[in-house]
Amino acid sequence: MTAAPAGAPVAAEHMAEDSRLLEVIRLGHPVLRSVAEPVPEELFASGRLVDLGRDMVRTMIEESGVGLAAPQVAEGLRLFSYWVPETDEEPEMSPTVLVNPEIRAVGAEIEEGWEGCLSIPGLHGLVPRYRRIKVKARLLDGEPISLTADGFQARVIQHEYDHLDGVVFLDRMDSAHSLAFEPEWERYILGEEPGIDEAAVSTTPP
Ligand code: NI
Repeated sequence: MTAAPAGAPVAAEHMAEDSRLLEVIRLGHPVLRSVAEPVPEELFASGRLVDLGRDMVRTMIEESGVGLAAPQVAEGLRLFSYWVPETDEEPEMSPTVLVNPEIRAVGAEIEEGWEGCLSIPGLHGLVPRYRRIKVKARLLDGEPISLTADGFQARVIQHEYDHLDGVVFLDRMDSAHSLAFEPEWERYILGEEPGIDEAAVSTTPP
């Protein structure tokens, strides 16, 4: 997922020195519309999985994304990386890779917010998402992890999770009405020029 303004730059320390920049595939590539396979037990902690996770983190950061799912680099496996830029209320959350995630909504509260996607470059749209979710997953070494996420973090996780099922943010929009190209989005929506629905502006993620 992409979000602008890009937020605090992530320190280079999050990028492993020997990691590689991967090619991000775009809408139209069939892997983006396929359901990814669970990572098999024997792959946990393997060089192949750890390298893939590191390469995804590097690619996400270098491409100015806040999330990247394995299908976006043409790997049909259920894992994604994400990070959360610093906000007024919360410090930056370092890049994390979640493997074989399961998510469920906590409560029924839905909020709209702006999303973009590295596989749909240049477009932003308003997407309704659950405000709060619970996540169970494994880390690259196989360690189980569970967490509760809300707001922007919950949005990023839901966006990336969708990629594992071949779903993109366009599919989740209530209508295409808010779709905007990046320069126009920055000028008319982030810039809050006259004529913009203020309620929509206030839901812009950090
Ligand atoms: Ni995406």
